[in-house]
Amino acid sequence: MCGIIGYIGPKEAKDILLDALELLEYRGYDSAGIALNSGFENPIEVLKCAGRVSDLRKRCEGDKGKGNCGIGHTRWATHGGVCDENAHPHQFGNVTVVHNGIIENYKELMEHYHLAGDLTSQTDTEVAAAVLNHFYQGDPYAAIRKTVLKLKGTFALVIMFEDRPGTIYAVRNVSPIVATCCEEGCMLASDVTALCRFTNSYFVVPEFHVLEMNESGLKLYDMSGEEAIPQYMTVDWDVSRADKGGYPFYMEKEIMEQPDAIRRTIEGRIVNGIPDFSVDGVPDEIFTECERVIVVACGTAMHAGLVGQALIQSKLRMHVDVEYASEFMYADPVVDDKTLVIAISQSGETIDTLEALKYAKKQGARSLSIINVRGASIARESDYVLYTLAGPEIAVASTKAYTTQLAVLYLMVARMAYLRGTMSIEEIHEFVGELARVPKVMESVLSRRQDIHKFARAILNAKDAFMIGRGLDYSILLEGSLKLKEISYIHTEAYASGELKHGTIALITENTPVIAVVTQKKLHDKEMSNIREVKSRGASVTLFIKESYFSQEGEQDWSGIFTLPDMLDEFMVMPASVALQLLAYYVSMDKGLDVDKPRNLAKVVTVE
Ligand code: AGP
Repeated sequence: MCGIIGYIGPKEAKDILLDALELLEYRGYDSAGIALNSGFENPIEVLKCAGRVSDLRKRCEGDKGKGNCGIGHTRWATHGGVCDENAHPHQFGNVTVVHNGIIENYKELMEHYHLAGDLTSQTDTEVAAAVLNHFYQGDPYAAIRKTVLKLKGTFALVIMFEDRPGTIYAVRNVSPIVATCCEEGCMLASDVTALCRFTNSYFVVPEFHVLEMNESGLKLYDMSGEEAIPQYMTVDWDVSRADKGGYPFYMEKEIMEQPDAIRRTIEGRIVNGIPDFSVDGVPDEIFTECERVIVVACGTAMHAGLVGQALIQSKLRMHVDVEYASEFMYADPVVDDKTLVIAISQSGETIDTLEALKYAKKQGARSLSIINVRGASIARESDYVLYTLAGPEIAVASTKAYTTQLAVLYLMVARMAYLRGTMSIEEIHEFVGELARVPKVMESVLSRRQDIHKFARAILNAKDAFMIGRGLDYSILLEGSLKLKEISYIHTEAYASGELKHGTIALITENTPVIAVVTQKKLHDKEMSNIREVKSRGASVTLFIKESYFSQEGEQDWSGIFTLPDMLDEFMVMPASVALQLLAYYVSMDKGLDVDKPRNLAKVVTVE
């Protein structure tokens, strides 16, 4: 998704903006630009291009881009193709603007203000700039207020006016903006990753408030012109955790960080062997008073929800629905005040998940979210939040966020079982004790990662691949399949192996790569017979199998076989997921792809 940055302070703005845009690259983009507002004597200077921030740096070389006040943008194309003209910032008359979001009524605005002949791009953003310019008669607040009333859709607009050098304005609806003021100056950005090089104290710009930043500091006003006080928060990351730490890609670093991320996420939430959310301020009654649970999430977060569903259903005998957030509200779901809706999101800004949560709350549901970014929009919209303490996750492919989401779900299920008496104290102690073993077990898998690297070569040049398993193994493979396809571009399909015979096995031919996971005792025999069915049709099978089953299966010919350290069946998702993350990572790296920033993808999806 688009990345936005703004700076005003004692330093030259150009390099600060370019460095910050690099920190926002992980959000996904296809063009970039900056605008410098250096004072009355010079007009606002816009430098922008299709391509990477490194291409933009080349355009900014020499004495271009002077000034201590500016805004910047990385664009993920929604309206209009990828070209220099459609890159932000956009200018219209007195106004220069960058924007994240979608102005849904931009065509109506074009007609209403007769803009067609005056636009130089195909973007909704340039239309917003033109409407701002239409209302600007010297009073920025009036112009912004009138414009916002005309816009339909989501927006984070950051604005400079030609005749107001040294001043930056911002206003938002749904799309995120965070801001801070410190001795380095005043900064705003789409997310805190771009600020944490300067400070770990920031605030979220409230929706429909106007932020004004200049050399003397920053002010916040609501739509009636009343001044508002910024609610500063502290980000629980240190800056060093937001760089590659010597790894070739963020993804490898984040895979390797998982044991510590799990430790951080569970410590302080277990008291006398029982999960305890007092530190999070989550009251027990949301777990005791609900009669059903609905999980809303997207992508990897949704796959974490599937594991949560299996755990809740088996340990609590309670019905759980896991819904793609983008589908949820259009399916007329049955939601009432006995429903607990759980929104899972690494970024806490995924608009599909945010809108699904709002819809469920409107129907009377209580809400709990599992989020990795403190103070994010979904967290602020939820009744209660359980934060994962994974630290900044920069790679588009989610890894440590996923396993820390699982860790929170294990704690939550054990807490619910304790409160509802569906597990004995001894069973809960054993369950929680197994969770505490996860970091060590992950470290054991990570120590053998080169064995997994060898498997990568077998599927490197495949066009298609299958991943087969049953029950929890199938949920594990849905996530493993997403990892492989999104960073290696191999069309990978996870399939419930019992379902293969009902059609898909027609696609299995000589040397078709199949990845199988076998970790569940009650499903082992059936999974092995499904694997034999594909092998007998020529499939080349790479098997990830629970260690204690290895002796039975080790002798057969496999394209690759990897033993997963033994855990209770419910916990095998942890070592298995790390192994599949590594497989996807090595395939992508060996294909020479941009592992951290796969084509077409964004780290945060803030458009529906
Ligand atoms: C996962 O590797 C992808 N990056 C994507 O599916 C992601 O999980 C999804 O967009 C949800 O993001 P969120 O957790 O920030 O809401």
